[in-house]
Amino acid sequence: LPTHYTLPSGDKIPSVALGVWQAGTGEVGQAVKVALDAGYRHIDGAWIYRNEEEVGEALKESSVKREDIWLTSKLWNTFHAPEDVEPALDESLAKLGTDYLDLYIIHWPVAFKKGSNNVLDEALTADPYPTWQALEALVDKGKIRNIGVSNFNIPRLENLTANPLKYVPAVNQVELNFLNPQPELLAWAKAHNLLLEAYSPLGSTKQVKDTLGRPEIKEVAEKLGVTPAQVVVAWHVQRGTVVLPKSVTPSRIKENFEITALPEDAFAKIEAAAAAHPPQRVVNPSKGWGLSFDVFEDYPY
Ligand code: A2P
Repeated sequence: LPTHYTLPSGDKIPSVALGVWQAGTGEVGQAVKVALDAGYRHIDGAWIYRNEEEVGEALKESSVKREDIWLTSKLWNTFHAPEDVEPALDESLAKLGTDYLDLYIIHWPVAFKKGSNNVLDEALTADPYPTWQALEALVDKGKIRNIGVSNFNIPRLENLTANPLKYVPAVNQVELNFLNPQPELLAWAKAHNLLLEAYSPLGSTKQVKDTLGRPEIKEVAEKLGVTPAQVVVAWHVQRGTVVLPKSVTPSRIKENFEITALPEDAFAKIEAAAAAHPPQRVVNPSKGWGLSFDVFEDYPY
């Protein structure tokens, strides 16, 4: 299995990361330390996860050098106005205790008006290019090595990349798991040399039990003498995506990093089983944000 993928910048991004969404304060620092000890060199965080300070503390206390760790954070919806992008990045950098990020991502294709967390900025939601240009400027300033997006569907990707970009999106981080495998988006990304990153790869807290209990996954795990979680993490990397399993449990953190390739027939069986049922998303904030459209299905502009 590939340990890294090469991005358009030439940088090599580790294929397996520790995801820290829903890793609470008081537990996330320990999780980061255990992960680094287990060999992880990629931490996937975000400003909105409200745990960047504790992640930063753990990084500082670790003996692994900053330049050997891939650090990702995400620009929150409230900070899409071009003049707000650098201060938002600076806050994440300060909390993480570093002066650059390996990857900075537009967290959602949804912009909120300055200072609000629920009033839509229609112009910047319809057209994220001004936000993107602000990110490009921060690459040129040396504060970010790579820039990307998250939760963008194909029409939104096409809209953004129709602009004269100085730097193309390096990644699109989206929900990918057994119950929501998104084969069309994956095929589109591969055809456009865009790397996908799989969040909630195990089905997140809500669906992890269901996912790991699926007969197709259990069967492969038993045959190979590995755990169902290891089958699922390997399946993701074998599909050609970065995978961001979240855990705050030391044994699971280690387990999720110790993966080996699935035999071709086992991989094909899981891929077919995943595609065979109606997609079931774990994450969709559209209603919670009071949007008049579904952020994944529609692009009503
Ligand atoms: P915990 O953090 O308490 O260990 P996802 O990565 O899809 O977001 O899923 C995260 C959920 O899966 C969390 O509830 C996490 O629990 C659980 N989890 C992570 N790794 C494993 C594993 N190897 N076996 C079982 N559950 C796991």
